Amino acid sequence: MAEYKIGNLKLENPYFLAPMVGVNDIAFRILCKNAGAGLVYTGMINPMTREELNLSDKPAIQLFSKDEAGIADFIKKHEKNSLLFDFNLGCSAKIAQENCFGAFLPNKIRAIEKILQAMRESTKKPVTIKLRKSTQALKLIRVAEKYCDAVCIHPRTHNQGYSGKADISFAEKLKQKTSLPIIYSGDVDEKNAEELLKKFDFVMLGRKAMGYPNVFAELTGKKSDFGFNAYLKLALEHKLKFAQIKAQAIYFTKYHESAGELRGKLSKSKNINEIKKAFEK
Ligand SMILES: Cc1cc2nc3c(=O)[nH]c(=O)nc-3n(C[C@H](O)[C@H](O)[C@H](O)COP(=O)(O)O)c2cc1C
Repeated sequence: MAEYKIGNLKLENPYFLAPMVGVNDIAFRILCKNAGAGLVYTGMINPMTREELNLSDKPAIQLFSKDEAGIADFIKKHEKNSLLFDFNLGCSAKIAQENCFGAFLPNKIRAIEKILQAMRESTKKPVTIKLRKSTQALKLIRVAEKYCDAVCIHPRTHNQGYSGKADISFAEKLKQKTSLPIIYSGDVDEKNAEELLKKFDFVMLGRKAMGYPNVFAELTGKKSDFGFNAYLKLALEHKLKFAQIKAQAIYFTKYHESAGELRGKLSKSKNINEIKKAFEK
């Protein structure tokens, strides 16, 4: 049987839930894990955040930052609740441009080196980076080779955002130039995952898994039928905010037979009972 490993972390399979800020709350992460995901990520987290974080499910934690401030303290505080620490070099949102992080950090190789060094020195857990297609990508991989256990590549440029084609051959060329394991991200689904795993060590699913954790059961042959009710039960157990539950309710309409009508009702809902009622009909 194939062995799946990132650094000292053994994984059951190569199908991961991609980091998605605003989507990967603890209830959703638990559903994806129970449906079969080999590893689930948080969305990107600022190490200086004062927010109370619920990481009791032990996810892979993704950090973003413009420098190393706060990184060592964050890792010390949350290490026991994390399987792996990833660093975001791919966020292409306006806020990342304004604050010089994510995809807008890659020109600052020295700053990145300091961040990764701080991460490496703070933990024995695996450290990884997630990057986009750019002219800096190979340089970043060379830095990662000094401090990291794997690299995740989403081969779209920051100008592309999430649209247009992901450039698989760009990711393949990088894979050939490094001995670090490569996690591939970009339009992965249950149909193309096996083919991509002939080229890369691991794959990540983002949008395909939104509102549909069962995709991991399809990939792994596990049985699961997690709909919105399963999400809601966990969300209430973990005391998630109403706005978060409502956003997830809308994602979970994805394969519903009358999705449009249901989304209309959900967007007007003001409390949990109204959400429950919308799904009942
Ligand atoms: C709503 C949303 C939030 C995202 N948040 C993050 C994030 O916090 N960190 C990150 O590295 N990528 C983030 N991404 C990018 C995904 O991890 C992934 O690389 C990208 O969506 C391409 O994969 P997909 O085609 O499977 O969705 C996000 C994507 C979406 C759609």
